Amino acid sequence: MLLPWLLWLVVLCPGGGGEAAFQGPTSYHVIQISSFANSSWAQNQGSGWLGDLQLQSWDSDTGRAVFLKPWSKGNFSEEEVTGLEEVFQVYLNGFILEVQDHAHEFQMEYPFEIQGIAGCSLHSGGGTVSFLRGALGGVDFLSLKNHSCVPAPEGGSRAQRICALIHQYAGIRDIAGKLLFETCPQYLLGVLDVGKAELQRQVKPEAWLSTGPSPGPGRLLLVCHVSGFYPKPVWVTWMRGDQEQRGTRCGDVLPHADGTWYLRVTLDVAAGEAAGLSCRVRHSSLGGRDMVLHWGNPVSIGLISLAIIVPLFVLLTVPTLWFLRRRSYQSI
Ligand SMILES: *[C@@H]1O[C@H](CO)[C@@H](O)[C@H](O)[C@H]1NC(C)=O
Ligand SMILES: *[C@@H]1O[C@H](CO)[C@@H](O)[C@H](O)[C@H]1NC(C)=O
Ligand SMILES: *[C@@H]1O[C@H](CO)[C@@H](O)[C@H](O)[C@H]1NC(C)=O
Repeated sequence: MLLPWLLWLVVLCPGGGGEAAFQGPTSYHVIQISSFANSSWAQNQGSGWLGDLQLQSWDSDTGRAVFLKPWSKGNFSEEEVTGLEEVFQVYLNGFILEVQDHAHEFQMEYPFEIQGIAGCSLHSGGGTVSFLRGALGGVDFLSLKNHSCVPAPEGGSRAQRICALIHQYAGIRDIAGKLLFETCPQYLLGVLDVGKAELQRQVKPEAWLSTGPSPGPGRLLLVCHVSGFYPKPVWVTWMRGDQEQRGTRCGDVLPHADGTWYLRVTLDVAAGEAAGLSCRVRHSSLGGRDMVLHWGNPVSIGLISLAIIVPLFVLLTVPTLWFLRRRSYQSI
């Protein structure tokens, strides 16, 4: 019986099982969002991502990339980076012109939005795999398989005709193939190496408990906050003794501005049953020692504060008194 519950919890709590899931990022991708408001107005947005971590944004006014980390260029030289920026600039401008040219032919109705994602990831068996997918209006439209454009079933005949058109542009296909299958893997391996001090860092979470809005009369929503941890995989659950509480609900793992993560894990319980519950946090930075926070009543929190404040008081006041006494002896 235990196994299904465990599986269920792992599904609920993204990040899965602590150390086993820890690897750091293993893929790089660029995202393109092209918005076409009307036949004369369009805009591109671009960004580059190492897993969840944004490394570049695209400044369409200057046609240059903005590098968001000191190591965002990986092991590429300035010349290589400038060359790539030129390729992307020509591509993005050309993309808008081509789409506007063919919008009528392919019955695209303004306004519409095209999204693209392309990149490469480390393969578990060694080497890398490259990918490219496009969407129209938020729906899958086409993808790249075995170096060929494959229309998505959702894209209908329009996607088939656009793939046929793409196949005619041999020059563009060659450049895209080189970027995806050569440049991307080189960049990925290089940037993982150059950025490893930051990518492989371990930052311990802080955790605290609170109550959320009451789920109903006589019930409590216990909230376990886990904040400021890195890397992202984390395992958090409410427990009673050794028993994981099956009502545990995990929020989304949310980013902090400094690149660390935050997670909120809640449990809805009858008010009388809160005592004896604890929140358990497992994270690679904790060196195999789970963090356990016990749900206490106010008295025990008061006692804990006392237990901290009294020794602090003694520590701070005794030397001060001793110092003052010494001074007064000296001044006699
Ligand atoms: C096209 O869309 C842009 C941005 O929404 C708007 O400012 C402009 O007036 C529109 N032009 C026409 C001809 O509709
Ligand atoms: C990939 O494409 C090549 C030629 O374009 C073909 O010979 C090969 O069978 C294809 N592989 C798969 C798995 O479809
Ligand atoms: C960057 O690193 C990758 C992987 O280690 C390597 O294949 C590539 O040649 C390097 N590029 C440069 C310019 O040093």
